[in-house]
Amino acid sequence: MSPAPLTLDRFILEEQKSFPGSTGELSLLLMRLGVAGKRIANALARAGLTGALGVAGSENVQGEEQKKLDVLANEILLETFDYGGLVTLAASEEMEEPFVYRGSLDQGRYAVLFDPMDGSSNIDCNGTLGTIFSIRHRRDGTVRDLLRSGREQVAAGYVLFGPAVILVYTSGEGVHLFTLDPAIGEFLLTRRDLRMPERGKGYAVNEGRSHRWPPAVRAFVERLKTPEPGSGRVYSTRYSASMVADVHRFLLEGGIYLYPGDGKSADRDGGGKLRVLYECHPLAFVVEHAGGRASTGTAKVLDVSPETLHERMPLAIGSRAEVDLFDQFVARG
Ligand code: AHG
Ligand code: MN
Ligand code: MN
Repeated sequence: MSPAPLTLDRFILEEQKSFPGSTGELSLLLMRLGVAGKRIANALARAGLTGALGVAGSENVQGEEQKKLDVLANEILLETFDYGGLVTLAASEEMEEPFVYRGSLDQGRYAVLFDPMDGSSNIDCNGTLGTIFSIRHRRDGTVRDLLRSGREQVAAGYVLFGPAVILVYTSGEGVHLFTLDPAIGEFLLTRRDLRMPERGKGYAVNEGRSHRWPPAVRAFVERLKTPEPGSGRVYSTRYSASMVADVHRFLLEGGIYLYPGDGKSADRDGGGKLRVLYECHPLAFVVEHAGGRASTGTAKVLDVSPETLHERMPLAIGSRAEVDLFDQFVARG
């Protein structure tokens, strides 16, 4: 008889044993993310039937149009963590201020951050989407708890809604991948201790915005498109409009995802589009624990402490070789 597949919950409980003295609270939070992932997957699969496609008629704090599913996924996540007083604060790109769970101020030991729907422009065309999450320790229960370096994340990961629903997370001890078996409604372990390739052959960037990039970024992308002397090796473009989908591809195959500073916001280093706390920090945490790198071009993403909740930063993330090369181009200017 082949061994029984390992469910997400069972795996988390097994892992917990390697953290002596653990209260089990983080384990519970991670299990709750599995539940949220299933609820959001269900909402997405049925959205065309239930009238949940399209815009909500509102904007988020950065002036981006909210889709109905951005709002719904945000609500599902908020409900998910209203559970046993484990969480004090929840922050998301869809909420101007952090949500404070009532009655949790004295007890909730954690803060959660999320991008409920990453790749929202894919919602109405049945493209790949994801939910990105990050878990931090609660300190004084104010927003200051969140304005800290990415290295202080306790766990981070994402749920990817593609042909299959996949959950990837790390709590600092390896990156693990689970696939939802729809027949039994359970996430089952499919890859343990994932390591990303040192080098890849794909890159993902919105080249339609290249007119706004710094010259060093343009030169870097040109280099990727130029056949390597001798081998003739070139890179292929792989841009899906959902960074979590692109980063997941590169986690498995190697490569680099970029969203350069392009003057879209006046934030750190020219800003760019991606949010430090909900997008860059959690994916950088996963990628670094799988052996990859994440850089702004001048700093390691995980070393950055944002000054404001919704701050944005330029991002280059992926295999070590390509991110190193990106940094070299930026350093040369
Ligand atoms: P979100 O849907 O959460 O706003 O994030 C979208 C992000 C990222 O996932 C994606 O790669 C990029 O923004 C797409 O932006 P462009 O349309 O500018 O390419
Ligand atoms: Mn996003
Ligand atoms: Mn989003």
